[in-house]
Amino acid sequence: MIEIPVDLGPRSYPILVGTGALATVGAQLAKRGVGRRVVLVSDATIARLHGDPVHHSLTVAGFDVARVEVPEGEQAKCLDVAADLWNRLLDLGCDRTSTVVALGGGAVGDLAGFAAATYMRGMNFVQVPTTLLAQVDASIGGKTAIDHPQGKNLIGAFHQPRMVIVDPGTLATLPEREFRSGLAEVIKHGIVLDAGYFGDLEASVRPLLDRDPATLDRVVAGSCRLKARVVERDEREAELRWVLNYGHTIGHALEAATGFERWIHGEAVSLGIIAEARLAEYLHISRPSTTERQHRLLARQEAPGRARVLRPGPGDRFVPDRARRASRGRAASPRGARLGGAYRPRSRWVRSRFCLASRKSGLAPTAAWKWATASAALPVCTSARPKLF
Ligand SMILES: NC(=O)c1ccc[n+]([C@@H]2O[C@H](COP(=O)([O-])OP(=O)(O)OC[C@H]3O[C@@H](n4cnc5c(N)ncnc54)[C@H](O)[C@@H]3O)[C@@H](O)[C@H]2O)c1
Ligand SMILES: [Zn+2]
Repeated sequence: MIEIPVDLGPRSYPILVGTGALATVGAQLAKRGVGRRVVLVSDATIARLHGDPVHHSLTVAGFDVARVEVPEGEQAKCLDVAADLWNRLLDLGCDRTSTVVALGGGAVGDLAGFAAATYMRGMNFVQVPTTLLAQVDASIGGKTAIDHPQGKNLIGAFHQPRMVIVDPGTLATLPEREFRSGLAEVIKHGIVLDAGYFGDLEASVRPLLDRDPATLDRVVAGSCRLKARVVERDEREAELRWVLNYGHTIGHALEAATGFERWIHGEAVSLGIIAEARLAEYLHISRPSTTERQHRLLARQEAPGRARVLRPGPGDRFVPDRARRASRGRAASPRGARLGGAYRPRSRWVRSRFCLASRKSGLAPTAAWKWATASAALPVCTSARPKLF
């Protein structure tokens, strides 16, 4: 098992990655000195596919385990479901020494984490992510949330898990489209944080798409490590964590403008990455060859039958155009990006204005766009390790 420490002082925790790791959840939790009561939260699909090994390992390790099922996907992230979970925790007599174990995708993790963050002002929480997106992204960093009618993830808290146990073996049952969508985040990590990792992805596309266990272990652990380093430096997303928004300004616009129906998250992010990479070219902070490398890799991971999404016609300009339309004309102009000094806004005030504007419009026009464009020119472009680390 690969152990990746996340160093956050008193809130430090390990990420444990390895095929077969599900069976070790109980033994690992027993090392953390938590109380006997464990509540295993998952949706019906995950419970059926992967619930038993986790339940068994917890029981063998001496925990009293109760299982709670929540609705699948985004439907779980609402106040009613959170309230049901709080009620169950109360009925089970949970206190702050008890542990919520979230077994599932990002939706289960966000909901269960939110309930754990708020129950008695915070109880123990463990992430056992089962989608690729959750393994390399959502489970790391302590962001928890439910949705509000006015927008996604608006109600939430930072609450770091006691540990994250990642079993890439669970990806064997993940639908192809979900798997490939998660790869967009993996590729994003390579683009903005580590040229060497990006090169490894380029060289491993085939075994990766075939979900070869050794390749998955290596790639997932690599991505977790990169995300962990960012979280360590910027726990509450004040600055650096924004680099992880690369592709998301336009990606979110596309998702919102199409009612979250046409593309799943990673597909929209793939489009966003290409559009933002193009924008970086227009701003002369990146080269066409940099965009091409990103484009080539993203196109290879596209789900069959959806391949045309990333195969635009001559000129390749339709992506930014479409994104601008999707954002109802509110997307940033290059001039807006220059406001921030091309690479970063000069003051906290400027940044906060842009944050506010982006929240109001449902987009992150200038600030995130600026980060996006700046990050597009990072390691892939220079083939050097970024300054970040
Ligand atoms: N907290 C964060 O930092 C963060 C970061 C990114 C995304 N998110 C959130 O994550 C959510 C999306 O997460 P997601 O992409 O993991 O999707 P998801 O949690 O909605 O799960 C998608 C579907 O896959 C199924 N599934 C999960 N694992 C499976 C497996 N191993 N085999 C078969 N089916 C499986 C689930 O039952 C569900 O139907 C969004 O709500 C998003 O806001 C949070
Ligand atoms: Zn994302």
